[in-house]
Amino acid sequence: MSEYEQLIRQINECKLCALSQKRNLAVPGEGSLNADIVFIGEGPGFYEDQQGRPFVGAAGQLLENLLESIGFNREDVYITNMVKCRPPNNRDPLPGEIVECRPYLDRQLEIINPKVIVTLGRYSFAKFFPGIPISKGRGIPQKWNNLLIYPVYHPAAALRNGKFRSVLERDFQGLPRILEGKFQDANQAENDNSRQIKLF
Ligand code: URA
Repeated sequence: MSEYEQLIRQINECKLCALSQKRNLAVPGEGSLNADIVFIGEGPGFYEDQQGRPFVGAAGQLLENLLESIGFNREDVYITNMVKCRPPNNRDPLPGEIVECRPYLDRQLEIINPKVIVTLGRYSFAKFFPGIPISKGRGIPQKWNNLLIYPVYHPAAALRNGKFRSVLERDFQGLPRILEGKFQDANQAENDNSRQIKLF
């Protein structure tokens, strides 16, 4: 069994936090292990818990449409979440649950080693940049250790609010150029007194 398969089995059998007691299925994540892009959401919802797959509900449909708009499909990328089991009634994941689940996500990132990590919403953004509001960070690629993080709004937020949706669509359009390395890091952009990503 490969290291990745062992990891997935460990997640499926995990009982480290109370979320495991109420889950139907754990949702480890799925996609290409050679992906250039990893998407990190928050946690599984109702349909994800039923199927054991990430982003299969309405937010997942929007994510697929956004991927299509830049010429990708979900098999080209890797999709996972901060916590691998559904928080009851879709409540926000608790800090302790995120901490218990963190080694699984960190291992997934090490195995896949993507060019870009797209954080979907505030929880995955806070993994890398705690304390910065998502409204300030979104749309700005930023280095974190050796990783490149590109924060965007969560598709579920975009479904609730049309303004977020157009911002999310615009931020996705920036992704191909970021993948090509054609961007200016947020730290540089800040020196230039600008919060916009600078595309060459
Ligand atoms: N929202 C998430 O954050 N993750 C999913 O897998 C589904 C909806």
